[in-house]
Amino acid sequence: MKVAIFGLGYVGTVCGACFARYGHEVIGVDVNPLKVQMIAEGQSPIVEPELDTLLAEAHRQGRLRATTEAGEAVAWADVSLVCVGTPSNENGSLNLDYIYGVCRQIGEALRAKDSFHVVVIRSTVLPGTVDRCAKIIEETSAKRQATHFAVASNPEFLREGSAIHDFMNPPFTLVGTNDERARELLRELYAPVGAEFIAVEPRVAEMLKYVNNSFHALKVAFANEIGEICKSMGIDSHTVMELFMRDTKLNISPAYFRPGYAYGGSCLPKDLSALAYQAQQLDLPVPVLRNIQESNRRHIEFGIRLIQRTGKKKIGLLGLSFKEGTDDLRESPLVVLVETLLGKGYSIKIYDRNVNLAKLMGANKAYIEKQIPHISQLFVASLDDIIAESECVVIGNKDPEFAQILERLRPDQLVVDLVRIDRHRTTGGNYEGICW
Ligand SMILES: NC(=O)c1ccc[n+]([C@@H]2O[C@H](COP(=O)([O-])OP(=O)(O)OC[C@H]3O[C@@H](n4cnc5c(N)ncnc54)[C@H](O)[C@@H]3O)[C@@H](O)[C@H]2O)c1
Repeated sequence: MKVAIFGLGYVGTVCGACFARYGHEVIGVDVNPLKVQMIAEGQSPIVEPELDTLLAEAHRQGRLRATTEAGEAVAWADVSLVCVGTPSNENGSLNLDYIYGVCRQIGEALRAKDSFHVVVIRSTVLPGTVDRCAKIIEETSAKRQATHFAVASNPEFLREGSAIHDFMNPPFTLVGTNDERARELLRELYAPVGAEFIAVEPRVAEMLKYVNNSFHALKVAFANEIGEICKSMGIDSHTVMELFMRDTKLNISPAYFRPGYAYGGSCLPKDLSALAYQAQQLDLPVPVLRNIQESNRRHIEFGIRLIQRTGKKKIGLLGLSFKEGTDDLRESPLVVLVETLLGKGYSIKIYDRNVNLAKLMGANKAYIEKQIPHISQLFVASLDDIIAESECVVIGNKDPEFAQILERLRPDQLVVDLVRIDRHRTTGGNYEGICW
């Protein structure tokens, strides 16, 4: 396949060398004539293990050339990969000037091209950028998206220092496009990599890169704060974290990654609070650990605001404990939700088959009596009572008894779902999901 690569920096050079290695023909394009000259001579403009060898080999086999002329590259290629920089502006926002500049150049070149062309945004860009790029190319080329060209997202997951290995061994190949021709072309381009090929809508692919990098940054900051606390207490942080990583059930695992309502219960709030307090006594600010609680508090409020926005006053809550299958009400975000709405004059009915107020004991009983003294009056005996008496039903946990609730409601009843009781339901009509 004939591949044009715009931007011969870390991403573009590595992609060019690897695609040439896989047998594709590559032309690199850059505004920097020095980089162009180096690539054209089979030399690497950046330091990266194995890259020199791959570039020299691609050059020897005549599979890699370079130019400063965008038009020449687009006219020749089947696909253009955009790998130019997307730096931060002074205020932290994303600067897309280079991306849009390249799209204009590609659009102008497409004026004179008859065959279908696929433009692939490999640079890291926020959701919606691919759509904006398609508009720019339509304006400059006077051609139609889907008829004459398509734009796809294909975020790059490589890391500097192990870029060639990462390129050749990705977790999967991710392509964001609604265009079948673009999807099939990219499937063919990446076939030699041999990774699972996943096609999604463009904004999902664009978003994933930011989710990945935010999480990686969070991991580093989290581990370093733990390291600071451990050091101050004379504990070996690497021993602690090696054990932490060995728990692949709850720690390094898919657990807790599905957006929903806030955390609660008798452990997480208490233990985070104790650790943050300990850090404070050690004169360690630990902003990540401290702000987890703040983020969770804000998310409880976010759920309350969604209910307020329905404009309904008679609320039926399904579930009161912090998760299904338990009667532990301590620090349940749903208790805070009930308390807040009662204070604002809402009428609340609660159904939770696991919570039997007469049987509550000890700290659990004391907690709920302190938070909501007359809570027994809010409880109803069955799901049917909630359906009969509520204008808005709030789904607070995933008890299997609630699984069919969406089908059972009347059309005039609104739903605020805090748990995604049905994986395929998204916000619309009388249904509002908290994070979907
Ligand atoms: N560096 C990484 O490890 C890495 C990993 C994954 C994703 N990314 C993302 O990939 C993108 C590129 O990153 P990078 O580190 O390779 O950037 P870079 O700064 O190393 O290279 C960008 C290149 O684009 C060129 N360029 C600018 N305008 C151009 C134009 N109009 N035509 C042709 N070339 C042009 C520049 O001269 C430069 O050579 C960014 O969005 C980045 O966030 C980077």
